[in-house]
Amino acid sequence: MQRRLLPPCLIALILLQISQFTHSQRLPIIQQRAVTDYAPFVNVECPDISTNPLIRQIDPEDQDLHRDEVAYVEARATTVLPTEWANWLSDGSALGYDLSAFEGNFPKVGIALPGGGLRAAQFGAACLNAIDSRNDTAKAAGTGGLLQVASYITGLSGGSWVTGSLLFNEWPNINDLVFGNNGLSGWMLDLSLVLPDGNNILTQANQDYFGSILWSVKAKGDAGIDTSLTDPWSRMISYHFLNHTSRGDFFTNDTSHGAGQLWSKIPELRVFKELQVPFPMIVANSRPSGSTSDGILELEAVVYEITPLEIGSYDPMLSAGMNLTYAGTRLNNMRPDNGSACVAGFDQAGFIMGTSASLFNQGLDFGRTAIGGFSQNDATGLSHIAGRQLRDIRTRGDDVANWPNPFQGIRSGLYHDSNATWLELLDGSSNQENIPYGPLFVKARGVDVVVVAEGSADIPGLNWPNGTAFITTKARHDSLLRVTHQKFPPIPTTAQDFIDTGLNARPAFFGCDPPQPIEYPIVISLPNAPPNDGSDSVANSPTFQLRYTIKHSRMLFDQIHRNLLSGFTSSADPDPEWGICLQCAAIDRARFKVTPEVPRSERCTACFRRYCYDPQSPPNKSQLPPKRKLAFVDPDPQGLDRLGSFLSRNKFGLVGGLIGLVAFIALFVFGLMWWKKRREQKYQAVRDQLDDNETLFLAPSSYGLDDFGTKK
Ligand SMILES: *[C@@H]1O[C@H](CO)[C@@H](O)[C@H](O)[C@H]1NC(C)=O
Ligand SMILES: *[C@@H]1O[C@H](CO)[C@@H](O)[C@H](O)[C@H]1NC(C)=O
Ligand SMILES: *[C@@H]1O[C@H](CO)[C@@H](O)[C@H](O)[C@H]1NC(C)=O
Ligand SMILES: *[C@@H]1O[C@H](CO)[C@@H](O)[C@H](O)[C@H]1NC(C)=O
Ligand SMILES: *[C@@H]1O[C@H](CO)[C@@H](O)[C@H](O)[C@H]1NC(C)=O
Ligand SMILES: *[C@@H]1O[C@H](CO)[C@@H](O)[C@H](O)[C@H]1NC(C)=O
Ligand SMILES: *[C@@H]1O[C@H](CO)[C@@H](O)[C@H](O)[C@H]1NC(C)=O
Ligand SMILES: *[C@@H]1O[C@H](CO)[C@@H](O)[C@H](O)[C@H]1NC(C)=O
Repeated sequence: MQRRLLPPCLIALILLQISQFTHSQRLPIIQQRAVTDYAPFVNVECPDISTNPLIRQIDPEDQDLHRDEVAYVEARATTVLPTEWANWLSDGSALGYDLSAFEGNFPKVGIALPGGGLRAAQFGAACLNAIDSRNDTAKAAGTGGLLQVASYITGLSGGSWVTGSLLFNEWPNINDLVFGNNGLSGWMLDLSLVLPDGNNILTQANQDYFGSILWSVKAKGDAGIDTSLTDPWSRMISYHFLNHTSRGDFFTNDTSHGAGQLWSKIPELRVFKELQVPFPMIVANSRPSGSTSDGILELEAVVYEITPLEIGSYDPMLSAGMNLTYAGTRLNNMRPDNGSACVAGFDQAGFIMGTSASLFNQGLDFGRTAIGGFSQNDATGLSHIAGRQLRDIRTRGDDVANWPNPFQGIRSGLYHDSNATWLELLDGSSNQENIPYGPLFVKARGVDVVVVAEGSADIPGLNWPNGTAFITTKARHDSLLRVTHQKFPPIPTTAQDFIDTGLNARPAFFGCDPPQPIEYPIVISLPNAPPNDGSDSVANSPTFQLRYTIKHSRMLFDQIHRNLLSGFTSSADPDPEWGICLQCAAIDRARFKVTPEVPRSERCTACFRRYCYDPQSPPNKSQLPPKRKLAFVDPDPQGLDRLGSFLSRNKFGLVGGLIGLVAFIALFVFGLMWWKKRREQKYQAVRDQLDDNETLFLAPSSYGLDDFGTKK
């Protein structure tokens, strides 16, 4: 009797096999075996939308969250967080409180990780490590523990890489994650993102790497989904930040290199199931359809968030979310064109991180002095990839992340992309909100405390923050998002004011004394800043530096650690009260949650005098440690290619180099535009002319065509 029964796993396997042969399939199990698992499935049977709509329309006047988000955040708040608060603050007596007086009403904390390439990723990770109770030094300083009480974490661009990396590696010790240990390979940032085998793109290893990357992208294109430069970029990011890549297999096809890991599968991770992690949200901007803007986006452009559940936006212009499992499916008035042709597996973790970091429209922009962009070598590598991709793979909108639009027909007249077949998503900083504040300010989320690991590079040439992201978000929230989002607390008005008050360069709290009813969260700002003891700064490296020696990474990590454990100080010595003061800020909103309100303790009042921004009596930058040196000093120039490092450090001063770069990018862009335009007509003709060993993206003439694409 028993013998006749097949083992259940075998049955499952057979069913899976059968389903491969039918036209449309139930949700397939995406493997993580080969780099081609980057390809989405395009003929998946759609769910019955009469009972399970794919779009959640949200009333802008009265927004609600996805029920699974609510369930997660509430379950974590009741089962995990009370213990974590107690682990951190103990009974509260050191702060002058009795924690039990708050009757379990702990503030809801969200952490924001801004963009800025590998610098921001490393700053974000080091910052999280400095508030992580698992790090003994941080724990002893009193700062370690804040990470554990967070309900939300948002990432943007480089900040999204930290978020994704933590999650897909099951939230390990952060030093292990970045430097490798305990079975982790580390981020391996000494292998450049674009040219891991060094600046010669022709080495066998680089060619193998490009081959694997293009193989992934081609698999996606072959599934019928248009790709862009964001796709190879996403794959490059995956090699470093997702698991499944080690030094030993970096240049091989032996693993999937993170292909097949889906953002919508985060709820199945052990740490998520155990409620161990804050609920993650990634931010991306959008270029409204019809625009070809390559400059700064208008504040009206919808800002999207990608959670493990949905892609969508709480901005009143859209106020809707799409089931992330089926992202990649084009819907019209919330319906698929063909119920047997839904898309799944589009939400590749690498592509989410690549979308949030899709800055090619800026990188290819001449108008701004921020032309800096990729170094010449990296641009060469990228254009090489792009050239090969454009030749063989379906592409569109080469400088944006292409998402088939599920929101067609929604809020016509209000929502700018209501008629668009594609969403053109861009780096989250494209509207100058480099800090992913938006999702944390959604009223329905009720976040009380926003912690920002501010690693933005604002000040030209020096790469320190100057408050621009704060100012931009305040402008957006206080005008366009009043109905849906909390207001932004008072801050200095201009970037220069941020600098003059020193608030861009020291920990500070904003919104300490809100009017009631409370209209905004308290914002705890932890900015990147030079060491207090006057030693050289290694932490303000350029955004487009795509390679770090291990020595540099280690120094950067430790420098940031020391700095963030020091608090606001006017000398080289740390503020001994800093740990307590951070705890005071994190718990403060709990006082308002009970009646009668608990008065602020004496010790916390002293802290707030030191750390809170009071518009009536602003601080002064003369209070900052006098020995600080602002310039970036590469601690290991020998370790990097000398020229590359020289160029990236002197980009703004080095006129010759800049002109070279502009000329190169111009050639690249015009080549790209020309190529796009002519591709359809001349595809075959051009292809015939192409030498298989062709390596660089060449001028039209080298394909045997004149500048107008006609055959010579
Ligand atoms: C804490 O983090 C710092 C900075 O990365 C590191 O140097 C130190 O070894 C860590 N301590 C422990 C106990 O992990
Ligand atoms: C990598 O992550 C995936 C999903 O997050 C997990 O299933 C897998 O076991 C991990 N692999 C390794 C080698 O850690
Ligand atoms: C991996 O596969 C791709 C596509 O076939 C190829 O271009 C690349 O060279 C391969 N890499 C190695 C190391 O074999
Ligand atoms: C997405 O759709 C599937 C099928 O209806 C459903 O099981 C799943 O819960 C949905 N996910 C979300 C986040 O709504
Ligand atoms: C719907 O999609 C399925 C699966 O791709 C395909 O077989 C079928 O022909 C499509 N139907 C229509 C009306 O396009
Ligand atoms: C969108 O399409 C509808 C119907 O086709 C049309 O009436 C409307 O003007 C279009 N809106 C925009 C912004 O193009
Ligand atoms: C502040 O940063 C922005 C970029 O975010 C930059 O354009 C501006 O020049 C900076 N201003 C000052 C005073 O540093
Ligand atoms: C800051 O202090 C310096 C001298 O200590 C003074 O000249 C300057 O006006 C002060 N700035 C502000 C904004 O108060």
